[in-house]
Amino acid sequence: MKKLELLLEKSRLAEQGGGAARIEKQRAAGKMTARERIDFFLDENSFEEFDKFVVHRSNDFGLEKQKIAGDGVITGHGLVDGREIFVFAQDFTVFGGSLSETHAAKICKVMDFAMKTGVPVVGLNDSGGARIQEGVVSLGGYADIFLRNTLASGVIPQISCIMGPCAGGAVYSPAITDFNIMVKNSSYMFITGPEVIKTVTHEEVTKDELGGAMTHNQKSGVAHFAAETDEHCLLLTRELLSYVPSNNMENPPFVATSDPSNRLEEKLNSLIPEVSTQPYDIRDLIHLITDDKYFFEVQEHYAPNIVIGFARFGGFSVGIVSNQPAFLAGVLDIDASVKAARFVRFCDCFNIPLITFEDVPGFLPGINQEHFGIIRHGAKLLYAFAEATVPKITVITRKAYGGAYCVMASKHIRTDFNFAYPTAEIAVMGAEGAVGLLYRNEILDSEEPEALRKSKISEFDEKFANPYVAAEKGFIDEIIEPAYTRPKIIRALSLLQNKRDTNPPKKHGNIPL
Ligand code: HXC
Repeated sequence: MKKLELLLEKSRLAEQGGGAARIEKQRAAGKMTARERIDFFLDENSFEEFDKFVVHRSNDFGLEKQKIAGDGVITGHGLVDGREIFVFAQDFTVFGGSLSETHAAKICKVMDFAMKTGVPVVGLNDSGGARIQEGVVSLGGYADIFLRNTLASGVIPQISCIMGPCAGGAVYSPAITDFNIMVKNSSYMFITGPEVIKTVTHEEVTKDELGGAMTHNQKSGVAHFAAETDEHCLLLTRELLSYVPSNNMENPPFVATSDPSNRLEEKLNSLIPEVSTQPYDIRDLIHLITDDKYFFEVQEHYAPNIVIGFARFGGFSVGIVSNQPAFLAGVLDIDASVKAARFVRFCDCFNIPLITFEDVPGFLPGINQEHFGIIRHGAKLLYAFAEATVPKITVITRKAYGGAYCVMASKHIRTDFNFAYPTAEIAVMGAEGAVGLLYRNEILDSEEPEALRKSKISEFDEKFANPYVAAEKGFIDEIIEPAYTRPKIIRALSLLQNKRDTNPPKKHGNIPL
């Protein structure tokens, strides 16, 4: 009996982490403790902990007198909606959640286990970085984790919740994982903090401006979601997991719906404005056709000229990529290309079909875009769509111009179903640009240049600003009445359930990075 009491006592001590005062400080900062986070995140009473009694091995700087069971990270597995998930939660109350040799080894252990069993890993990050007293062994610990993040990429989904500090090289673990969810006001990520920046470049900036949740959601694109609170962050993570399979050998979970597969939406027949320069919000279209009219948008604050996210059609989980005519006319620029390319590759890794809605006037012209490498970055999206072997369905709602036509999951890059609305305009360029180039001299020499220009534009529009030329060539499989979009997509997805396609054997491709 004494032995059992000893176990319970040791367990109770371990669960106290850094002690009552530090827990109080954590709460005062608006943060949950690491254990509260795990309990909130997982299905009730489903957490099974590993390595509760692990302590550090350091004998320097008085550390030998401060050993706290668990060493600043809680690791184990549990259930999310009944599915197994591995989780690690850094405990800021223990040495500031800093990463020691043993702390790293605990994280590596769950990652290795997750790889063996084909189970996703969720990391709850809240750490002061490398355990300063340990020096290089701590750096080695980080590198051990980075290697595992890299090897696990594309095999099991990896999600990072940033729920406190995450600075220096430590940021590279979340950076390699598939999704980063940051909590507003309490989390930040940066390579070097405001103090170092001030010394080196004389720039002054707050931690939040430099690397807070909104900075990484809006400006850098490092983060995919901005959560209001710890609870919100953990709920977003649960929801995200509901769309993805546990590993690359499985299909995403099927979620039965009472929303009829053959639901027609008459509103769609008038959603696309008659005037082709008039904007509309593509999310209105998406919401009308998905199961229960629900869309889980990813990176909504970054590059809003492209919209990405998850939804379901007839119970099948899909990834949606769509130009957004309501922002910059839906043009493709560097940020939009990179945002969508990474999402397409995530979906392809994990057998999630891709639905593309296209209304794009082309790539964004401009000196900055060219000098910052729109060629290289735009190529990422092309490459990602072309190499993807998951079921691919494209709906051209309006503009599909120039190179952007090819890039946005066109028939030519192995898209399975290419639909177009009657409002589609599929051409090398818009009528104004084309007429300016083709009839420049003729218009200059004309006695009535404006009248000639207008008549040439309407001639060009009539000939090319429609889906019929592409349909005649078989580049569009079917021109559909918009009201039928949902049933058409569900029929296509159902057929494509058994789709098999592969890429040539190779070590890996060389995507233009
Ligand atoms: C050891 C650490 C620590 C660390 C914090 N603590 N960071 N202990 N190693 N890296 C301890 C503190 O001593 C303190 O202990 C407790 O954690 C809480 O820290 P506070 O400073 O009181 O908290 P707060 O005021 O909230 O400030 C948080 C912080 C600050 C901004 C993160 O602690 C900080 O600047 N820490 C150092 C950050 C850093 O430089 N890390 C190394 C970066 S280099 P007590 O006992 O008082 O509670 C790096 C390289 C990784 O990480 C490379 C990978 C390739």
